[in-house]
Amino acid sequence: MTEKNEKTHKTIEQAEQEGKYIRKVRSFVKREGRLTKNQQRSIDDHWQDMGLNHSDGLIDSQVVFANANPVVLEIGFGMGKSLVEMAQAAPETNFIGIEVHKPGVGACISSAIAAGVSNLKIFDHDAIDILADCIPDGTLTTVQLFFPDPWHKKKHHKRRIVSAEFVETIRQKLKVGGVFHMATDWENYAECMLADMQSAQGYNNVSASNDYVPRPESRPLTKFENRGQRLGHGVWDLQFAKKA
Ligand SMILES: C[S@@+](CC[C@H](N)C(=O)[O-])C[C@H]1O[C@@H](n2cnc3c(N)ncnc32)[C@H](O)[C@@H]1O
Repeated sequence: MTEKNEKTHKTIEQAEQEGKYIRKVRSFVKREGRLTKNQQRSIDDHWQDMGLNHSDGLIDSQVVFANANPVVLEIGFGMGKSLVEMAQAAPETNFIGIEVHKPGVGACISSAIAAGVSNLKIFDHDAIDILADCIPDGTLTTVQLFFPDPWHKKKHHKRRIVSAEFVETIRQKLKVGGVFHMATDWENYAECMLADMQSAQGYNNVSASNDYVPRPESRPLTKFENRGQRLGHGVWDLQFAKKA
């Protein structure tokens, strides 16, 4: 094989280290908040069972969960309260959560253990890298993105995780008929999400009115949503299904 034809795929991290790829903007600022003793212990005691590592590369969910159940991926689960509730309510579904905030990772593992949830695995890493390097195409039944950081100021909008490129990546990861479900309490972000989804190829809007859907029963109220409601904000849910 000539050098030209050799497979040169690298993880984004490897490529970044070699200076081959520099990502300019991230959707989060790493807040190294202190972990409580319980959060740290939960990670130490249960990472081996519940943790997934970016460095291990592409996952095979049938191996990871030891079954062929459908897989739901949640990006940015915060403290994991609603993710654990969903996993507990749907034991025949596998859940994978991704979060960069370590205390949230610890809190989520702690709640999952307390709830006796065994159908949940966690990545402690940037979701953009996980999608690129660890999630095989055409394998997810649902992708959930609930209350992503809204980056209110216009000059920060480039940090928003939802973009035309992101929604195309999600489409590639979904199975045909699989649903991308987003929710936000920030109207301008909801409008941008809708615009990105409407101009994306390969999705059908689940909404009867061709815009938003009522909050599905399956999505528990989150802390952020409760807060939004108290402040009199609306909440917008969007659901788009991948076309054949
Ligand atoms: C505003 S919070 C919402 C948390 C939770 N979904 C909820 O509704 O309570 C957004 C979360 O997304 C996480 N996040 C942002 N960008 C991320 C990324 N690229 N990969 C993984 N997590 C990310 C942040 O650390 C934060 O916990």
